[in-house]
Amino acid sequence: MTRDLLDRFLRDLGAFYRARLMYPAGNDQVVRAAERAAVSLSAWGQRVRIAWMGQDLLVEDRTLADPPAALRALLERLAAAGREGVHLDPEAGAEELEAWIECVLGGDVDHWAGHHIRVGSLLLDKTQASTARLTRAAAGYLSLIPQVQEALSDLSQEKAGGLTRAREIVRAIASQLATGEELVNPIRDLKTHDDYTFTHALNVCVISAAMCRSLGLGKAFVDAISLAALCHDVGKEKVPPEILNKRGALDPEEKALMDRHPVEGAALLMNLPEAVDPLLPVVAYEHHLGADGSGYPAHPARRRAHPASLLVAVADVYDALRTVRTYQEPRSAAEAVSVMLERGRSGVLQETFLGVFARLLGVLRPSDPVILSDGRRARVQRRRDHDPLRPVVDAEGGGVVDLARSRDLWIEHILDAEG
Ligand SMILES: [Fe+2]
Ligand SMILES: [Fe+2]
Repeated sequence: MTRDLLDRFLRDLGAFYRARLMYPAGNDQVVRAAERAAVSLSAWGQRVRIAWMGQDLLVEDRTLADPPAALRALLERLAAAGREGVHLDPEAGAEELEAWIECVLGGDVDHWAGHHIRVGSLLLDKTQASTARLTRAAAGYLSLIPQVQEALSDLSQEKAGGLTRAREIVRAIASQLATGEELVNPIRDLKTHDDYTFTHALNVCVISAAMCRSLGLGKAFVDAISLAALCHDVGKEKVPPEILNKRGALDPEEKALMDRHPVEGAALLMNLPEAVDPLLPVVAYEHHLGADGSGYPAHPARRRAHPASLLVAVADVYDALRTVRTYQEPRSAAEAVSVMLERGRSGVLQETFLGVFARLLGVLRPSDPVILSDGRRARVQRRRDHDPLRPVVDAEGGGVVDLARSRDLWIEHILDAEG
């Protein structure tokens, strides 16, 4: 019933935008359409959070597989103006809706100051945390590792209660994030080979949760994605330990067994004695699939991964690249993100999420040194909130280049700021 009210509002919002595209501002049709949208928003009675993520429209805690075309067009327009999300409170009346649409159409959302409609970039600016705060946060995360171990092993043995433990971990992380603790940096150096499985699960969970918060997603959705992130590799429990812990490269047979962990994980999560959010098996199954469907498990017809899987994939790849493994030197944050940018260009990692992540991590800040695809060194001059991967740079030999406008030029490497 309530969902119907939300759907009606989304339809009315799209219809209002369509009417405004057809008629000038203030026209009767436009005014009436705005009134209808205001009435249905008020009938829904709660805040509506909508986010546009490149291809997918997220409304509250769900993805709209088939959003009304006009609504999609509106969100595309908003994204083109540099804002990918909007929150609408039920008190927003027809007048505020009309003013807001004019602002979106004018491309000037930076100066939007409505009380009941708020536009947001995907990204929040994070200030640098003090060392004391970092240490405190790190200690908090460290204390969660034994709980992660317990939760994941209960889950893998399909014991009742594993999911409840996992939810408690997600709750603890959410409350740390809510107090504004530093999210990503404290834990990235706190891992050893021995407890890799658990620190990895925890790191991927924390990073994913932080990304979700940056995206302004609804709490239920943030919790579901965080839980899915915590459990994404649970299928590895079914991989023989000698393969899991092997030093050096895997042979083809071993690799085939290792590559089954998404399928094993999804099967395990679907067979738990407790009811699970369907996102859990979906993310476990798809986290290596890639935004272009080129990963595994292989599908004869390309399967499009759920955005939650693509978000978790960004966190997963980063943590894997940063990890000390016997056969792999850990990379610096800048190096890891450079590798990820490459995977973004080739279509494996989803660029919107990469941008959110890069911003969260604090890479590509003004004056950070980079190497461009034509081999020139450059320094970031100015970063765009809505397109952090394509800043304005000051290139060697003179010349300010706006990478958002020079699509044949990109950042090939991010250099360590101190280097
Ligand atoms: Fe995995
Ligand atoms: Fe993983």
